[in-house]
Amino acid sequence: MKSFSFSDAHRDWMRRDQESVLGWRYEPRIIFERGKGVVITDVDGNDYYDMSSGMMTLPLGHAHPEVTETLRQQAGRFVHESSWYSNPCAIELAELITSTLPDGLDVVNFAVTGSEANEIAMRMAIAKTGAFDIVSVIRGLHGGSLAVESVTTVGGPRRQGLGPLMTPASAPAVLAPFCYRCPINLEYPACDVACLETSEWLLEHLTTKNIAAIIAESIPVPGGMIVPPKEWLPRLKEMARHWRALLILDEAQLAPARTGKIWAFQHTDVVPDVVTFGKGMSAGLPICGTATTRAIADEVSGRLGLPWSGTYPADPLAAAVALKSLQIVLRDKLAERSETLGVTLRRRLDALKQAYPFIGDVRGKGLYHMLDIVTDRDSKKPDAAMAERIRYNAMLEGAAFIAVKNFIRVCPPLIISEAELDDALGRLERALKLAAQGHPRNIDFSKSSSLAAAER
Ligand SMILES: Cc1ncc(COP(=O)(O)O)c(C=O)c1O
Repeated sequence: MKSFSFSDAHRDWMRRDQESVLGWRYEPRIIFERGKGVVITDVDGNDYYDMSSGMMTLPLGHAHPEVTETLRQQAGRFVHESSWYSNPCAIELAELITSTLPDGLDVVNFAVTGSEANEIAMRMAIAKTGAFDIVSVIRGLHGGSLAVESVTTVGGPRRQGLGPLMTPASAPAVLAPFCYRCPINLEYPACDVACLETSEWLLEHLTTKNIAAIIAESIPVPGGMIVPPKEWLPRLKEMARHWRALLILDEAQLAPARTGKIWAFQHTDVVPDVVTFGKGMSAGLPICGTATTRAIADEVSGRLGLPWSGTYPADPLAAAVALKSLQIVLRDKLAERSETLGVTLRRRLDALKQAYPFIGDVRGKGLYHMLDIVTDRDSKKPDAAMAERIRYNAMLEGAAFIAVKNFIRVCPPLIISEAELDDALGRLERALKLAAQGHPRNIDFSKSSSLAAAER
């Protein structure tokens, strides 16, 4: 049976990492030192397909020649400045981002992280409406700072013990449109999206009736790639209007181009009042942000710490790289590519589901799908341990996937070729086969991130 064999030097890096760096880690704690295209390479020179595009951040993969050249040039010209001034890269990035958004979403407030971007959005909504309740969607994730933790309901131990430190301390949530495990045991389409109607009743009773915003991912991703029925987002928007609240859509995992459109909400006619972006839009450097209308921006400026600033938002180096990356995504029509290759990806994953009963469901859009790993298809009981074994085996086969809880993410760079996708999925298939045979045995996964995040 295959097993990892690491050099002494690699083992030494792993030991030093364990001793001095605090972070989430998988087992084994492989140390990577470079990447090119869709491949990352560890310190022993072993290659692995990067099936998570970094942290879902690299639509163009690693070391794209044009992006690298931009980085090199900008590094020698202007890296950082006082955030009380602007720079051409940030201005052009804001212009390009807003040109891809529906008319009206014309202004960007940059931030360093996606968490910050969502906090800006929440501040905007509170300043605009004068209300305080922020309603989220159960199983949503909007970041890790204390403010956005309150609207993050993916479960697991992450909120445990935070108590009133989360602000707003009371944040109501609506039911997730999770058809595979329907929270009210109905079936789509006969249900007529009753999860939202039931939620209306919850809002009526749980909120102060002064709702500042409903915040949702256009497709809730970390909560299990919950692709909502087509009626869901339009009805969520109606719900926001009914409560005179803003609709904030968080596209950190989805934009640009991941799902087959530049923004995932563009699969519907819904236009949010505020949209936040990060990850893929950042191209791997810390630049995220919040887009809204000129009217909202003007009305909220000067209140609640808005516009948001800080030491690093919109730094020229990060902005130049993000700008170049988005230009290439648009020039090379990567949204269309994602849609086309997504069909192949889905076909292959559906075939794997037929072969392996522990794949309970396959969900996703474009080049972002997830396997929902279960103990058996009748109970649909999440099997995080099995997901972790599959991830481990895939690593052995030379394909790096992210597994969190019982969900395995399939999210390759959008530049992946058909042959590479085919090869990477072949490796996943071998990993599934090994897992079905009970491999690996005698490995202690108790410290692996994927399981640490699981329900206890
Ligand atoms: C949907 C979503 N929103 C926001 C965030 C927070 O982004 P960041 O980690 O950059 O703060 C994440 C991070 O995973 C995310 O998945």
